[in-house]
Amino acid sequence: MPTATRKILVTNALPYANGPIHIGHMLGYIQADIWVRFQKFRGHECHYVCADDAHGTPIMLKAQQLGIEPEQLIAEVKQAHQADFADFHIEFDNYHSTHSDENRELSELIYGRLREQGYIHTKTIEQLYDPQKQMFLPDRFVKGDCPKCGATEQYGDNCDVCGATYSPTELLNPKSAVSGATPELRQSEHYFFDLPAFESMLKEWTRSGSLQEEMANKLNEWFESGLQMWDISRDAPYFGFEIPDAPGKYFYVWLDAPIGYMSSFKHYCDTTQKANFDQYWQLDSDAELYHFIGKDIIYFHSLFWPAMLKGANFRQPTNVWAHGFITVNGTKMSKSKGTFIMARTYLDHLDPDYLRYYFAAKLTSRIDDLDLNLTDFAQRVNADLVGKVVNIASRCASFISKKFDGKLAAEIHDHSLLNEFQAAAEPIADAFEKREFAKAMREVMALADKANFYIAEKEPWQLIKDPARAAEVHEICSIGINLFRLLMIYLTPVVPTLAQRVQEFLNEEFQWESHQSILTNHTVRPFNALLQRIDMEKVNAMIEDSKQQNEAPVSTGNGELERDPISPEIQFDDFAKVDLRVALIANAEHVEGADKLLKLTLDLGGETRTVFAGIKSAYSPEKLIGQHTVMVANLAPRKMRFGLSEGMVLAAGPGGEELYILNPHEGAQPGMRIK
Ligand code: MSP
Ligand code: ZN
Repeated sequence: MPTATRKILVTNALPYANGPIHIGHMLGYIQADIWVRFQKFRGHECHYVCADDAHGTPIMLKAQQLGIEPEQLIAEVKQAHQADFADFHIEFDNYHSTHSDENRELSELIYGRLREQGYIHTKTIEQLYDPQKQMFLPDRFVKGDCPKCGATEQYGDNCDVCGATYSPTELLNPKSAVSGATPELRQSEHYFFDLPAFESMLKEWTRSGSLQEEMANKLNEWFESGLQMWDISRDAPYFGFEIPDAPGKYFYVWLDAPIGYMSSFKHYCDTTQKANFDQYWQLDSDAELYHFIGKDIIYFHSLFWPAMLKGANFRQPTNVWAHGFITVNGTKMSKSKGTFIMARTYLDHLDPDYLRYYFAAKLTSRIDDLDLNLTDFAQRVNADLVGKVVNIASRCASFISKKFDGKLAAEIHDHSLLNEFQAAAEPIADAFEKREFAKAMREVMALADKANFYIAEKEPWQLIKDPARAAEVHEICSIGINLFRLLMIYLTPVVPTLAQRVQEFLNEEFQWESHQSILTNHTVRPFNALLQRIDMEKVNAMIEDSKQQNEAPVSTGNGELERDPISPEIQFDDFAKVDLRVALIANAEHVEGADKLLKLTLDLGGETRTVFAGIKSAYSPEKLIGQHTVMVANLAPRKMRFGLSEGMVLAAGPGGEELYILNPHEGAQPGMRIK
């Protein structure tokens, strides 16, 4: 039973304002929403705020591509995001933007305090600059050949093929991904936040025992490799807030993004008076503060953010809770397979409660990835929600309305099952509280099985044939409806619209505490179907839609060439240096310990070569053996972690599952030169 009323502020990571919400994003918003609804349901004061993360280079460039101002882009995207969230029944108390007055003021305040305390330093650094576009290039906007393994088309921060990390200045043959120009090194003064100054405080937090185990381990790894000064400035042109007293310098998007949590809450407090900002954020606040995030942004939330708050004299988060990533049908969401599903596309075909339940049924407090297997999704929802829970009501409701005037029995004598269902409230609440949603759902479904067993055993449809036993039928069905009601109370935070329909049917409004009472002598409304089964055809239609959306250009300038411009012109002699040959893939095998590589044995018709190729994400070895392909035969051998690679096979596509190796027409023989 909830004791004193708690004051709780919950946030979920702020989505970038440069694209639509997809079902991967939805995991975190749904997880936090279920937790918040549970807290509110129990009578606590709980506020759930979010905002669009509206700054940074990708948003600036996207607006340019579309030929609009960034302000227009972020306004349009925000509207779409909010509609998606609302339709998934994510009930934010406030949804704001990091491009807001509140966020500018709070960013300046926090930065000002950090500077006063001596935590801000400047240093001149060298960075790649695009002379054509006249801008410094973020790591992700430089592409070139990996300095370790030579793989082409790699980003400026790490190699997708061999996993090496490096700085963009180490890339070979670097190209600006914005204009295609060759970047040059330029100097610029940058502002840095002194993260190492907070090491002991952060270590103490890590040892507090309240962090998720995987997160504490990550933090310890980072401490071991040493905390670095954090570069918090970016040069114009940039879409963001200009740093006070530093013309042409802007706050890096990740500086003002988490401050967006505060500013959304500030906006909420100022406009609704529903809470007091200082009470929640001051140093000695007795309110709880939780950040739900995905596992990819732990560094920002568990190091930079607590340190910034500390340095600026604000309270610390009570906890940061990370979740894993969504895969669909066992692999990364894929545009070509139609499993890169936008929130809106899902909503066009399916009820959001289905996905909310499926996520809940699989979510734990750990940082594990979660697979949305679409066949399992349909089966699970149909079996559990429709086949188990709603079925209890369908089996009892018609007798109540037809034979007993819609009224539940005035007295119930057999309380054994009802007691058991009521006693489950505590363990279920405990599981919700600890974010062990899967456990809570298992408890509910185990009870649902018992309720169905009870009804099957009593066979009210047989008893009703004997008018003398009507009172017995009345009691059995009233017990059934009450069991159903208790389960639906427990499921309310997970499936809010289904719970709404059930409350209408029961003619009652749920509180968590409602589970302590039993409905007797109570009139219910006529029973209508509460939930449709998931029809696999709708799931398939959603996939088809997703495929088509990804084929059609989303907006101007999303073509291949736009994404990856043609390289500067070369002379024939340059080309002739490359000796391309037809090769037979004599063998292909997995490489122990390598995520991305396959080991290929290539037959050149007299000679064989071993080549490590980064194509594992797109090909299984069996598919390749016996195929002809094209290789660069005179590439200097490279030593890799797994052995010597003696050449390279050619493939098209951006990477991941979208990789296509070349295949000569029939008749080409191993060893033939390609010219
Ligand atoms: N803007 C930053 C967060 C700033 S918070 C101060 C950002 N935005 S995001 O749009 O890329 O991601 C928003 C949230 O969705 C993050 O928590 C991220 O981890 C999560 N996810 C994005 N793709 C996901 C999956 N495929 N699966 C699960 N969560 C995923 O990061
Ligand atoms: Zn590499």
